[in-house]
Amino acid sequence: MSELKEFGLIGMGVMGTSLARNLANNGFKLALYNRYEKGVEEQIAEKAIAEHEELNTAAGFEDLQKFVDAQSTPRKIFLMIKAGPVTDYVINDLVPLLEKGDIIIDGGNSLYKDTERRIKELKEKGLHFIGTGVSGGERGALEGPSIMPSGNAEAYKIIAPYLTKIAAKDKDGKPCCTYVGRGGSGHFIKMVHNGIEYAEMQLIAENYALMRYAYRMSMPAIAEEFTAWQAQGLGSYLLEISTKIIQQKEDGEYLIDKILDKAGNKGTGSWTTDAATDYGVPSTVLTSALFARYISAFATKRSNYETYFALDKPTLENLPAFEELRNAYALARMVNHQQGFELMNAASETYEWGLDFSEIARIWTNGCIIRSELMESLVEDFESSIEILKTESRKSFIISTLPSLKKVAATAIYTGISVPCTLSAVDFLNAHLYNYPTANMIQAQRDFFGAHTFQRVGDSTEKFYHFEWEEF
Ligand code: 6PG
Repeated sequence: MSELKEFGLIGMGVMGTSLARNLANNGFKLALYNRYEKGVEEQIAEKAIAEHEELNTAAGFEDLQKFVDAQSTPRKIFLMIKAGPVTDYVINDLVPLLEKGDIIIDGGNSLYKDTERRIKELKEKGLHFIGTGVSGGERGALEGPSIMPSGNAEAYKIIAPYLTKIAAKDKDGKPCCTYVGRGGSGHFIKMVHNGIEYAEMQLIAENYALMRYAYRMSMPAIAEEFTAWQAQGLGSYLLEISTKIIQQKEDGEYLIDKILDKAGNKGTGSWTTDAATDYGVPSTVLTSALFARYISAFATKRSNYETYFALDKPTLENLPAFEELRNAYALARMVNHQQGFELMNAASETYEWGLDFSEIARIWTNGCIIRSELMESLVEDFESSIEILKTESRKSFIISTLPSLKKVAATAIYTGISVPCTLSAVDFLNAHLYNYPTANMIQAQRDFFGAHTFQRVGDSTEKFYHFEWEEF
C-alpha cells in the first residue's frame, strides 16, 4: 500500500484547487476528492493533479471510502464546498467512514449557526468540526489567504501547522491565521468581514460615482486621484483593484461601462445584517451596502422610473475639494470598521467567545479582501478599545473632517447620486456627536397609542411611567 496522506481536501472547484496547490507547495502530501457525476463531473481531482505539477505528490479520488482510507489518523479533512445543505450532505456521507478524533475543517462561507450545530452533532460522534473562515479569493487561496478557524482548541492544535503554513503573513512575518475562539466564531467573524467588505466596496463605488458624475472627471483623472489616495494613508486592496478596474479597456472602451449596473451577492452580507438585528447593533453602513445591492438588482425598474420622470440632472459648481472628498471617505471607513467590530463584540459577549479584536485585525492585515492600512492601525488601537472613533489620535481628524463628510453627502443628495454608505456614516456620526433627541418622541408615541411607558430624564430609579395623554 502506498504511503498514507497527511491531509485531505474535498471540493476541487476554483478555491479548493488553489488551496490544494498552496498546501502542496508547502510540502504537504494530500488526498483530494471531488464528487463524481457521469458525463458531467469526472476525474476532477485527477485532472487537477495532472494539470498542476506541484500536485504530483497528491492522490485523487472519486470514491469517498478510498479517499478516507488513504489518510493517516487523525484525519484532517478540509471541505471547500458550497455552503448550506451541500455541506451537510457531504458531512453525512463522510461521518460513517471516519474514526474518533478525526477532524473536519469547513472552509466554506458557512452560516455560523450551522457551524455551531455541526460542532455539537459531530462531537456526539467523537469527531471534531473546525469552522474556518477563509478570505482572499482564488489568488489568496493559492498564495496565502487569511484563515479564521474556530471550535475545539485541542483539535485546532493538530491542524495549526497546516493552516499557519499556507496562510498569508503579516508585516512581521506572523501567519494571518489564528485560533479565533470556540464554536462558530470563525465563521461569524468571516461573515462580518464580508459585511465590512460590502461597505468598503460600496464606499469606493460611491466615490467613483461622485468623481465621474458630480465632478465630471475622466477615467484617467479618477484613477490618478485614487492612486494618490492609495499613497496618502488610504491604501487598501479594494482601492488598488478598483483603480485597475477603472482603467481597464476592452475593444477601446472602458470595460466598466459595459458591465450591467446590477450587483449580485451570495448571502454573507444579508447574514451580517440579520446578525446586526439579532444582537441589536446599529451596523448601518454595512446594512446600507447590502440594500444598495438590492436596489441595484431592480435595474429595469430604476430605468423605467428614470424615463417616466425624465428629470434634468442637477449640476453643482461649488464642489468639495479633493482633499475633503478623500478625508470624508477615510472617515466613513472608520465608521464602517467600528460598526463591524462592535457587531463582533456583541456576538462575542452573547456566546462568550472571548474574541481578541486586535488579533482579528492582525490576521486581516494580509491575505484577506479587506486588508488595508486602516486595518494595520486597528491592531494597536484594539488593544485598548474597539471604539476607534474615540481613539485620541483620531479625535482632531474626526472633528476637522466631519464638515467635509457632510459637504460630500450634501453634494451627492443635491446632484442625485445615490451614496447610501456615505449617508449612513454621516448620520451615525451626527447621532453620536450632536446627540439631538428624537427617541423621546418615539417613546411618547409608543406610550400614547399603546401604553408602552417611558423613562424620565434625571430619574435615577430608572422606573417606567405611563402618561394619560388623552381621555377616551
Ligand atoms: C473573501 C470574499 C469571498 C467572496 C465573497 C463574495 O473574503 O475572499 O469575501 O468570501 O468573494 O463571499 O460575496 P458576495 O458574492 O456576496 O459579494
